[in-house]
Amino acid sequence: DKGIYPYYMLKEVDEQPVVMRRLMERYFDDQGNALIGKAILDEINAADRVYIIAAGTSYHAGLAGARLFEQWANKPTSVFISSEFAYEEPLLSEKPFFIFLSQSGETADSREVLQNINEAGYHSLTLTNVEKSTLWREATYALPLLAGPEIAVASTKAYIAQITLEAILAYALAGKQDLNLMEELSNIAVAIQAIVDDKDTFKQVANEMLVPASTNSAFYIGRGVDSSVALEAALKLKEISYVQAEGFAAGELKHGTLALIEEGTPVIALITQPKTSGLVRGNLSETTARGSRSYTIVSKSLAKEGDGYVLPDVDPLLAPLVEVVPTQLLAYYTSLGRGLDVDRPRNLAKSVTVQ
Ligand code: F6R
Repeated sequence: DKGIYPYYMLKEVDEQPVVMRRLMERYFDDQGNALIGKAILDEINAADRVYIIAAGTSYHAGLAGARLFEQWANKPTSVFISSEFAYEEPLLSEKPFFIFLSQSGETADSREVLQNINEAGYHSLTLTNVEKSTLWREATYALPLLAGPEIAVASTKAYIAQITLEAILAYALAGKQDLNLMEELSNIAVAIQAIVDDKDTFKQVANEMLVPASTNSAFYIGRGVDSSVALEAALKLKEISYVQAEGFAAGELKHGTLALIEEGTPVIALITQPKTSGLVRGNLSETTARGSRSYTIVSKSLAKEGDGYVLPDVDPLLAPLVEVVPTQLLAYYTSLGRGLDVDRPRNLAKSVTVQ
């Protein structure tokens, strides 16, 4: 039931802090130790590489998670689009371990891969929102995302749940001492709450930059993990507002896409990574010099006069959890402002059971 909400998507965006708290209750003890089964941790520890397999938004959550596995847990990790992996398997490492990310647990492309790796005798873990789904049942291990039913075709809270659970897994593997993840995730849930309470800001920005019929394309740019959020932000905008959108690594602009920048083209920069914030600003100003309409979504400690939306500071690798929320709301208000059916975009299905 949508209750007071005009669309499920808005309800599901609002639920994100609750989803995070639910995951924390389930996957941490009172001391903030991660509660992940020993068998799962032993298998990942024994593996020489983790292969994350997913599609669409779940693939984008995988891109963010891979950095956590590599940088926190020192575990080499590769992320693959399931429909690609299924028919062009890369050369595998000697002791691979597979993680499947899927909201529905029924995505045919991912099921195809799981079938193949089961036949080859490899072990796997599925993170899914639907217990007893096919990917849940057919993997060696499975953990629930606990996001509650996601009805809107555009995935939001499942993305947040996937990255949160990937972070808890990476943390459990790493035995990290220098970060209290439970505390950091609580802060992030509070931060997301503040962002969703700022809805009017994003409604206004969407109405100015993205809703006008004269806007037929838009760009999201970022570096490091922000580049993976740029992909997700662009996907969300495309699928529910039908604005042609691209998200990519900011350094790539000058290698081609800059040619598309015209007077008024929206370019939204995601800036949460201290190492590269100056470079992203440089890339953005190359677009403004060519007439783009630029907007920044930036972490507080990196913010400057004239920035668009300022996010609270969090651990840089966990920044996707906060920075994605403004982009979800921008997509939502663009779809709404264009008079479209936010929850049921044309041509798309919630669960993609064909290859
Ligand atoms: C986009 C979206 C899709 C799904 C993709 C994978 O908003 O929802 O891109 O993420 O179809 O679905 P799952 O996660 O169910 O395997």
